[in-house]
Amino acid sequence: MDIGVFIPINNNGWIISATSPQYMPSFELNKAVVQKAEGYGFDFALSMIKLHGFGGKTEFWDHGLESFTLMSALATVTSRIRLFASTAVLTLPPAMVARMTSTIDDVSGGRFGVNIVSGWHKVEYTQMGLWPGDQHFGKRYDYSTEYVRILRELWGTGLSDFKGEYFQMDNCVLSPRPKAPIKVVAAGQSDRGMEFAAQYCDYNFCLGEGVNEPTKAASVPARVLQHAAKTGRDVGAYMLYMIIADETDAAALAKWDLYNKGADREALAHLLGKAAEDTAPSETSMAAAIQRSPSPINFNMGTLVGSYANVAKMLDEVAAMPGVKGIMLTFDDFLLGLDAFGKHIQPLMSCRAGRMLNAA
Ligand SMILES: Cc1cc2nc3c(=O)[nH]c(=O)nc-3n(C[C@H](O)[C@H](O)[C@H](O)COP(=O)(O)O)c2cc1C
Repeated sequence: MDIGVFIPINNNGWIISATSPQYMPSFELNKAVVQKAEGYGFDFALSMIKLHGFGGKTEFWDHGLESFTLMSALATVTSRIRLFASTAVLTLPPAMVARMTSTIDDVSGGRFGVNIVSGWHKVEYTQMGLWPGDQHFGKRYDYSTEYVRILRELWGTGLSDFKGEYFQMDNCVLSPRPKAPIKVVAAGQSDRGMEFAAQYCDYNFCLGEGVNEPTKAASVPARVLQHAAKTGRDVGAYMLYMIIADETDAAALAKWDLYNKGADREALAHLLGKAAEDTAPSETSMAAAIQRSPSPINFNMGTLVGSYANVAKMLDEVAAMPGVKGIMLTFDDFLLGLDAFGKHIQPLMSCRAGRMLNAA
């Protein structure tokens, strides 16, 4: 069972509240996070790409670093952990991403992979004059398909003459090619997104659901398996959960209550409005997930709140769901949370037995 960390590349991580830890993103913070994760034996770290925030009094996600450049720098201060950067496909041509990947593959010694972001938050792209029109909502995985085919051609052969609806290569070349096979991941929750992952990706990230309901999202990795069975490819589900842990259930729940009381309503209203712009939402899309809850202070991410022992038990339940190959974690406070995970939670997880390295 792989364990990863979704590093805080934008301010305040994943809690839209004025009473949760408030912090800006920086190289130093993310370096500390990734080095701690590596020390506790984490298998991977992923940074998202988010190019426009939601405002409000917490200026939620209004401050963010760029994913590839950050991961390249983090590659130089780590030695074992796998690193994934995210490309928002409307912003970076695939031939450039192929070359950036080849570069970071070299910098990291073969530890690098790419997360394909098809795009759901329109203002990120309209602000740059890069939004192709609202038909993109319905076509985003067709666009991403051409994008990944070009990446794989360039990485695999050093040459792409791909001619598609969205991209036309003209004997495009890449050298040096990555030395290690590049893992491609995506995070589609819709059937179209999962179909795309089943055809072209190695892992699909799935949103966990509920608070202290570790198996509530069991149908999501099951859907990844169903789509993978159709293509015959080995595509695993990586589940996303937030951990809010403390020595006792009561202490952890008190923190969760406090964060909910401080919900940044203005930023949440902005987020809900933006999610509602999706003109091609499905039952399972980001837009639908965000709109389901009246107070999604953490994007309705699956949340595990409790004592170290109870969180460990719940993580083992997540790991036991069919199709799950890994769990990616976020924390309210990443540095304290990683220490709590590494020292108190992971040692109690049977799915991680034998995977711990030199705990810091
Ligand atoms: C783990 C994870 C990482 C994601 N990373 C990004 C990201 O970097 N940028 C972004 O705009 N959306 C990101 N998303 C949103 C997804 O790319 C995707 O649009 C969303 O999960 C909805 O799925 P759908 O496109 O199939 O509707 C992420 C989602 C998850 C669960």
